[in-house]
Amino acid sequence: MILLTGATGYIGSHTWVELLLAGHDVLGLDNFSNSSPAVLSRIEKITQKSPLFIQADIRNEELIKELFSQHAIKGVIHFAALKAVGESVKKPLDYYSNNLFGLLTLLKVMNQHSCQKIVFSSSATVYHPDNPIPYVEGMPVGSTSPYGWSKCMSEQILRDAEIAEPGLKVACLRYFNPVGAHHSGHIGEDPRGLPNNLMPFITQVAIGRQDELKVFGGDWPTHDGTGVRDYIHVVDLAKGHVKAIDYLFKENQSLTVNLGAGKGHSVLDLIKSFEKASGKKIPYTVVERRDGDIAAFYADPSLARELLGWCAEFDLDAMCQDSWRWQSQNPHGFDGA
Ligand code: NAD
Ligand code: WQD
Repeated sequence: MILLTGATGYIGSHTWVELLLAGHDVLGLDNFSNSSPAVLSRIEKITQKSPLFIQADIRNEELIKELFSQHAIKGVIHFAALKAVGESVKKPLDYYSNNLFGLLTLLKVMNQHSCQKIVFSSSATVYHPDNPIPYVEGMPVGSTSPYGWSKCMSEQILRDAEIAEPGLKVACLRYFNPVGAHHSGHIGEDPRGLPNNLMPFITQVAIGRQDELKVFGGDWPTHDGTGVRDYIHVVDLAKGHVKAIDYLFKENQSLTVNLGAGKGHSVLDLIKSFEKASGKKIPYTVVERRDGDIAAFYADPSLARELLGWCAEFDLDAMCQDSWRWQSQNPHGFDGA
């Protein structure tokens, strides 16, 4: 049995589907702080399997202990975290409490039950912004937000825990910019309130929930002046998790790898591709740069290919088509269903 924390969230739900399709037994856990219970029936619709789920907070040690006593949990994929960079600057203690205390609670209970395999959701945000691109796993880490620091600190906690408990094996997966949705259109990204990230903002403009996109900066040193990022289809990302947990079981080795496509696309590239995919015009205005943004970053994904045999399969057009299918079938997300 694999325990999935943050299981009903954006990346968790897509990973849950891929794990079930690959034949794994999965127990999902979430407190619904940033997701909807409606995800569960959608997972069942896609996989034809009834998902095993518990609503709980990962910091509730007694309850987590009980779960490990009731189920033979052999490995954990830990998604549960708060993830909004801007909000983390305003509420740093909430972010450190949730993201660090959650991980510590999990590691403590795993240790008590001799569960020694964990896949951790890390992020490209752990790379110090002064690093040259593409980002390679050995480069210095460091961040500019409490959210980013919570990921740097989590990676450090995991490295220290491995030293103290040599049987513990950890896969730190550093995601770049996840976008897209399941091809069925049944699950996808459903942010609460105003979207912080580019793709959900664009899909909400296309569906009429937002008037126009604000492009943050047109004078970056990039091919068209707008910010460049490494967009990765969420289904590719989900498949990377299946490979990572299988690797931990088979190879019994830890690893830290980038999960990115290894290609940089600008904001205007994304708009163009999305307009082609949706047949909708995306009105936009170029405004001031957003605080904390940098011009460009993308992954060197070769280590993930070498160790996991994983690489991104879906291109930017496929990402836009699937994002649009999800948004157009679910104009108001899960709760509008
Ligand atoms: P998400 O918010 O959609 O999913 C996270 C889930 O965790 C949510 O369903 C939320 O309800 C749950 N959760 C949060 N705190 C919890 C707690 N204390 N107990 C139980 N459940 C809790 O986010 P996502 O985009 O799916 O991200 C998943 C992971 O990947 C996070 O750790 C995030 O930091 C990391 N990550 C995300 C991105 C991205 O751009 N989406 C990029 C890099 C890394
Ligand atoms: C992409 C590009 C913006 C919104 C964030 C986190 C990172 C990771 C992924 C978790 C940039 C531009 C955006 C808009 C815009 N998350 N943009 N108008 O900032 O690369 O990464 O999500 O780990 O930690 O920082 O992603 O989607 O916000 O921005 O012009 O309304 O789109 O300036 O160039 P980002 P994003």
